[in-house]
Amino acid sequence: MGHTILILGACGQIGTELTLVLRERYGSDSVVASDIREGSDALMASGPFEMVDATNYSALEDVVMHYEIEEVYLMAAMLSATAEKFPMRAWNLNMNSLFNVLNLAREKKIGKVFWPSSIAVFGTTTPRENTPQNTIQEPSTVYGISKQAGERWCEYYCHKFGVDVRSLRFPGLISWKTLPGGGTTDYAVDIYRKALSQGSYTCFLSANTRLPMMFMDDAIRATIELMNSDAEAISVRSSYNLAAMSFSPAQIASSIQRHLPDFSIRYQPDFRQEIADSWPMSIDDSRSRADWGWKPEFDLDRTTEEMLRSLKN
Ligand code: SER
Repeated sequence: MGHTILILGACGQIGTELTLVLRERYGSDSVVASDIREGSDALMASGPFEMVDATNYSALEDVVMHYEIEEVYLMAAMLSATAEKFPMRAWNLNMNSLFNVLNLAREKKIGKVFWPSSIAVFGTTTPRENTPQNTIQEPSTVYGISKQAGERWCEYYCHKFGVDVRSLRFPGLISWKTLPGGGTTDYAVDIYRKALSQGSYTCFLSANTRLPMMFMDDAIRATIELMNSDAEAISVRSSYNLAAMSFSPAQIASSIQRHLPDFSIRYQPDFRQEIADSWPMSIDDSRSRADWGWKPEFDLDRTTEEMLRSLKN
């Protein structure tokens, strides 16, 4: 059958854009979108959709068998801020969905898996500038703990059972098509929307909290490039560091002010400040660059131009 793909969590921030790009590339009918709720009109109209809970193994197996799925992209997860409020639900969703997909691959019902990890696998004991690929990982959030454990399981399934699973440690992702939900880096999306709708923004992180970030187009391209690389080239089977830019709320605000001079920002840090303070400020992604040719295209100012232009339309 060739290249039949299933996206779990297709209605989320990454899943929506990933589904649309993969459908463009491989044909609508070759990419099955799924989630526990319906997505945007654009997504729902673009091809097949199945209501599936990724923590339900037999429901997942049914869809995989029915469509003869070859590749699974597991984008369903509870993000960092929400996971602090619902620790057990987050652990259950983030881990059991991963086990389900890894076990389908172990049983040779699917051939290839993509699973996103995060900069949240790092913690306060990690070097925060140019964080290396291999370093101390003592995450202090429920979300980070689930991603770190997930990374270990991915590597384990690859080495023990030959499962072809590939993963990226995404930084904060900036997009305009679908809202993020429940993350610590979500401010970097919200700020553009509020800049246009209200001319001002109250930020839940402090002015100089620098975090690694990436424009969604880069994140989707990275995902597809990694999935299309030769298996032999992929030397990291836990998850790859991946970087594009780093900035603080003050820096994104001045980038916006170049287009909207009257834009103003206030700072009112909440519980998410502590999460941000435990994460790296910049990431060394040389291993991704060397192994599979990663190179980002969007810096902060180009991201600002794209965000303001697209959100205005
Ligand atoms: N961007 C995510 C969050 O803030 C981290 O992966 O939760």
